[in-house]
Amino acid sequence: EKGAYPFYMMKEIDEQPAVLRRLTQEYANLDGSFSFDAELLAELQASDRIYIVACGTSYNAGWASKNALEAMMNIPVEVHLSSELGYHMPLLSSKPFFIFLTQSGETADSRQVLVKVNELGYPSLTITNVAGSTLSREAKYTVLLHAGPEIAVASTKAYTAQITVLNLLAKAYGNQNGVKAAKEFDVVHELGLTATAMEAVITEKETIESSVKSILASTRNAFYIGRGEDYYVAMEAALKLKEISYIQAEGFAAGELKHGTIALIEKGTPVFGLINDEVTGPHTRGNLKEVESRGAETFVISSESLAKVGDQLILADVHPYCRALLAVVPTQLIAYYASLHRGYDVDKPRNLAKAVTVE
Ligand code: F6R
Repeated sequence: EKGAYPFYMMKEIDEQPAVLRRLTQEYANLDGSFSFDAELLAELQASDRIYIVACGTSYNAGWASKNALEAMMNIPVEVHLSSELGYHMPLLSSKPFFIFLTQSGETADSRQVLVKVNELGYPSLTITNVAGSTLSREAKYTVLLHAGPEIAVASTKAYTAQITVLNLLAKAYGNQNGVKAAKEFDVVHELGLTATAMEAVITEKETIESSVKSILASTRNAFYIGRGEDYYVAMEAALKLKEISYIQAEGFAAGELKHGTIALIEKGTPVFGLINDEVTGPHTRGNLKEVESRGAETFVISSESLAKVGDQLILADVHPYCRALLAVVPTQLIAYYASLHRGYDVDKPRNLAKAVTVE
């Protein structure tokens, strides 16, 4: 029930810190071990490449998890759109392992790939929010997201739950296989800090709401830019904005702007910059200067240690593997308020269904 909330989406945004804590309890045991299927971990260990297959927000969660997975598992990870892979399997490695990310577990495009993967006899894992769903039944292994029902069409807590579960799985795997990056990552502690940092962003709702009113009230388009993890979050931020506010939005690799897209910047174009990485942050700031000088209205979301005077929103510093989890929250709120103030039904955007069971 949404209770006092006007829309499920806000309730589900607010639930995210609790989802992180629940998942930590679910998969990380007090003695330092993890409750993932031993056979699943063994099968991952026997594979030479992970193929993440998903659509929409789940696809974006795959990208946002890729670097942490590669670092902690020491296995190359590719992220693919189901609807593309369904028609063209790339040249696979000799021991591929497929991970299907799907909130609903019913997405037809993803299922189509799973059917093929099963025919080819490759191992598969479905990470889903719905126990007993089609993709869960048909994959060899299932790991549940435990995010509670997600009612709003625009996915929020399933995205953060997917990244969280993949962090926990990578940690469990890396610990068992002696990967240094995994051993050094105190997943329970870091996810706890991230949950607390999410709560701090959520208490700044009103600040976000008033900025949204001023810069997104009537714009036709908007951009999110970032590099690395911030780029992956930008992709998700733009999708969320598009689907519920109908603002044409693009998530862009900041360095790529000057290779064409900067032509779209005019006076007043909103550009949101994500700056959460010490190596790439200064470069993204440079890109923000470039768009500002062409009239863009910029909004900077920066982690505390990289923040500069005038930045609109400051996030706590969290572990690099947890940055996407935190940085996505203000972008969900931005999309929510843009939809609300444009007078739309936040939970039921036009033309969209919660589970896409047609190809
Ligand atoms: C975005 C959204 C969709 C879904 C996509 C995949 O907010 O809801 O993009 O993420 O249709 O759905 P699942 O994860 O159920 O396979």
